[in-house]
Amino acid sequence: MKLSENKATLSFSNGSPSVELPVYQGSVGPDVVDIRKLYAQTGMFTYDPGFLSTASCQSAITYIDGDKGELLYRGYPIEQLATNCDFMETCHLLLYGNLPDAADKADFTKRVTHHTMINEQMQFFLRGFRRDAHPMAIMTGLVGALSAFYHDSTDINNPEHRDISAIRLIAKMPTLVAMAYKYSAGQPYMYPKNNLSYAGNFLHMMFATPCEDYVVNPVIERALDRIFVLHADHEQNASTSTVRLCGSSGTNPFAAIAAGVACLWGPAHGGANEACLNMLEDIQKMGGISKVGQFMEQVKDKNSGVKLMGFGHRVYKNYDPRAKLMQETCKEVLASLGLENDPLFKLAMALEKIALEDEYFVSRKLYPNVDFYSGIVQRAIGIPVGLFTAVFALARTVGWIAQLNEMIGDPEYKIGRPRQLFTGSVRRDVLPIAQR
Ligand code: ACO
Repeated sequence: MKLSENKATLSFSNGSPSVELPVYQGSVGPDVVDIRKLYAQTGMFTYDPGFLSTASCQSAITYIDGDKGELLYRGYPIEQLATNCDFMETCHLLLYGNLPDAADKADFTKRVTHHTMINEQMQFFLRGFRRDAHPMAIMTGLVGALSAFYHDSTDINNPEHRDISAIRLIAKMPTLVAMAYKYSAGQPYMYPKNNLSYAGNFLHMMFATPCEDYVVNPVIERALDRIFVLHADHEQNASTSTVRLCGSSGTNPFAAIAAGVACLWGPAHGGANEACLNMLEDIQKMGGISKVGQFMEQVKDKNSGVKLMGFGHRVYKNYDPRAKLMQETCKEVLASLGLENDPLFKLAMALEKIALEDEYFVSRKLYPNVDFYSGIVQRAIGIPVGLFTAVFALARTVGWIAQLNEMIGDPEYKIGRPRQLFTGSVRRDVLPIAQR
């Protein structure tokens, strides 16, 4: 980060001396005012719930220009990565900063492929869950439990430990998600197959049975790989910030990623793909496209508590570039499966059209986000709705680890410890119970 010639001056109306604050520039994007010494200089904190104006770290991984609707991983536009690179190349890029050449890619893929099995003991954790447990409840438990199996890679301050735990987590997430699914279906777990691609192997572990092989459909394999690429990282979102904050205490990487999984589960974040599909199914049950107008009235009525799921984003105030790519993939998958007339897809297109023309959405700059179409693709592939967010977690794991490792390697990193504006009772004395 580069010190700007520009400086910020903070003055007070009560006559307290004003303070000068340094301003730093990134390579692109807004400058930041450095307030680290503000408390020491003035005895005041800043107040920014929801981090609307606060950069919590410096990062060189992912850049979003929300007004333009631009997303770059290590400088590369998401459109180019989604078209020209696969998920393994994207993982290499996010973790190490560069796109691999053929030899690096082969080596990285081999390392990941050879860590896809999980310890046999892990299946006993699954047995403790009800068969109808939510997959994200299972994933939070299983990912956290990994720290109990890899005592040789839990020292976050050791770069080798960080690297091997990154490979292990990326490799094992598909196995864990598929196990969560097989457990709910009452089917035997399928072991990974090393001759398949990352996405192909996930499809195999999900849909093969010991009685019947699963032949990977290349269109579905590519679509799933694209879902993984599009969800791989998204700078300092809620779950990534959770991973950073959790990891800032020095806890092990498996525990920090489990915290990210828990945060992602919420419907305002990764749970939106599941919530979006449930919403489409509800409208379909109400009568489908003919009821879209009525549904939109509910969405615009603040007292109804109804939101158009898959719409709106804290950072994008323009079309989410991932939503465009996902819509493309959605069309490809539905065509390849002969589902062009899928009623939910048609409903989604109708909702999108109305929303993009409606003053409520236009004035608030609300556009479809990645989750608006990803649920339809996953459903067409045969992934159950309840598993959507777990698939998102699988894809986001690489981003979480890349961000965690970047933080640990940053000489300016400190344990995260936000401050507060206290509005509770001032000091008071405890009365004997009879006098309260
Ligand atoms: N439907 C209806 N109104 C909405 C929606 C929506 N989906 N999203 C935002 N608004 C309205 C808000 O009510 C608010 O209106 P107001 O100015 O009249 O009060 C205005 O738009 C601004 O929205 P905020 O909630 O203040 O924006 P914020 O940045 O805090 O929220 C969020 C962003 C949480 C993503 C929100 O848009 C939302 O809940 N969307 C639906 C859930 C969703 O799709 N989440 C996925 C996000 S992408 C991801 O995690 C992969």
